Amino acid sequence: MFNKNQMIEIKINDLGENGEGIGKLDNFTVFVHGAIIGDHVNAKIIKVKKQYAIAKVVDFITPSIYRIVPECNYLQCGGCQTQMIDYKGQLEYKKYLVDNTMKRIGGFENLLIHDVIGMDEPFAYRNKSQYPVRYVDGQIHIGFYKQRTHDVVDINHCLVQHPQVNRLMKTLITKLKETKISVYNEESHKGYLRHIVTRISFKTRDIMLIFVTNGHKDDLVIENLSKEIQSDYPEVKSIIQNINSDVGNRVMGFENRTILGEDKIIDYIKDLSFEISPLSFLQVNPIQTEKLYDTALSLLDITPEDTVMDLYCGIGTISLFLAKHAKKVIGVEIVDVAIEDAKRNALRNNITNTEFLVGKAEEVIPNLYKQGVTADMVVVDPPRKGLEPEVIETLLQMAPKSIVYVSCKVSTLARDLKLFSEKYTVEEVIPLDMFPHTTHVECVVMLERR
Ligand SMILES: C[S@@+](CC[C@H](N)C(=O)[O-])C[C@H]1O[C@@H](n2cnc3c(N)ncnc32)[C@H](O)[C@@H]1O
Repeated sequence: MFNKNQMIEIKINDLGENGEGIGKLDNFTVFVHGAIIGDHVNAKIIKVKKQYAIAKVVDFITPSIYRIVPECNYLQCGGCQTQMIDYKGQLEYKKYLVDNTMKRIGGFENLLIHDVIGMDEPFAYRNKSQYPVRYVDGQIHIGFYKQRTHDVVDINHCLVQHPQVNRLMKTLITKLKETKISVYNEESHKGYLRHIVTRISFKTRDIMLIFVTNGHKDDLVIENLSKEIQSDYPEVKSIIQNINSDVGNRVMGFENRTILGEDKIIDYIKDLSFEISPLSFLQVNPIQTEKLYDTALSLLDITPEDTVMDLYCGIGTISLFLAKHAKKVIGVEIVDVAIEDAKRNALRNNITNTEFLVGKAEEVIPNLYKQGVTADMVVVDPPRKGLEPEVIETLLQMAPKSIVYVSCKVSTLARDLKLFSEKYTVEEVIPLDMFPHTTHVECVVMLERR
């Protein structure tokens, strides 16, 4: 057994969810902060639990062949976790993670796992950023959270954000720090400015800037700042105040007020246009989203006779993308404003063969099936917790000829695929890198009815 402060020598052969190295000593798992796959290190134990210990690197005996010096200067920031691994190594790791999880949780021994579809240029890929604003030692800090904390690292240039957003944020942060604006305190739940959120269209380069505030105390300050920003940055087409007075971690509230310009911006996926309002869900990496949707479409091979269901459809992006190839697409989503967006987006793109239903997929799908509604093909794109058992049971009864499962969490994907394998052959898994420099991996899986 290990003791706190004990020095150990360990080889790292896996990565944890937060990018920490994982190794084994005497069959006991040790999570090592500061280490990556392939490192051989001396480390100091900082915590011992029943099942595992946590350590941090003291020095490197042999560094991993994947180790590089990160391009980012903000090493404390928790936004990215794997910038110290070269990009090719990150993609190889993600493929290994998918393969290993499919075997361990799904019991799939000989599944075809493709190479991860990566980015040619894995920086400047985000179309949305959320900067918390806090006081640290009497100074305003605006940036991102340190890993596993709510301490804000002061940042004014982030390599995964769009360059136009970096330029805007640099000016805005300087201007904000010159004001006496009141800043939110999570403990006392007092103070005004909580977050700055930006959204940008990579096609039009239009930006939406959102001030998230606790109440209205300093509205005049953000109104004056907004005028300055809009005259210096004409690409900022929409400036919004979002009011969030709730205690808790949710970034945005439900009430919006347009300070200047439009109340939405327009974004594009391929030739389809979408209205983006402050609360609309949109995949954050537009370059990889197009590849993701193309992959789903090419797997499905839809004909004009096919009815397709798009479960967990958000603002209807996949539904509208598939609609021109199908007889009809039925989208289902739990968030009512997203369904309103989806209906409006169908109209603005002159698409008339879609139907959007609001509700929990686990309730809507069994009800539709009871009424005799079925589909030839189904796309599911659930949140990280995966599919509810009722959805899987109903799809097994409905038995569409093919199902495409889009997943952002490989462990729940493997669990669900095992249940589908009663009636479906899992043809192939195509992993895609939606979030370079993090441990997240997106997967597209094709299921064919036997
Ligand atoms: C990963 S997103 C996919 C969104 C969309 N397919 C896209 O590509 O933009 C998952 C979506 O599932 C929705 N959702 C979460 N739980 C749900 C449920 N029980 N039933 C239906 N939709 C749900 C979320 O609101 C979110 O829009």
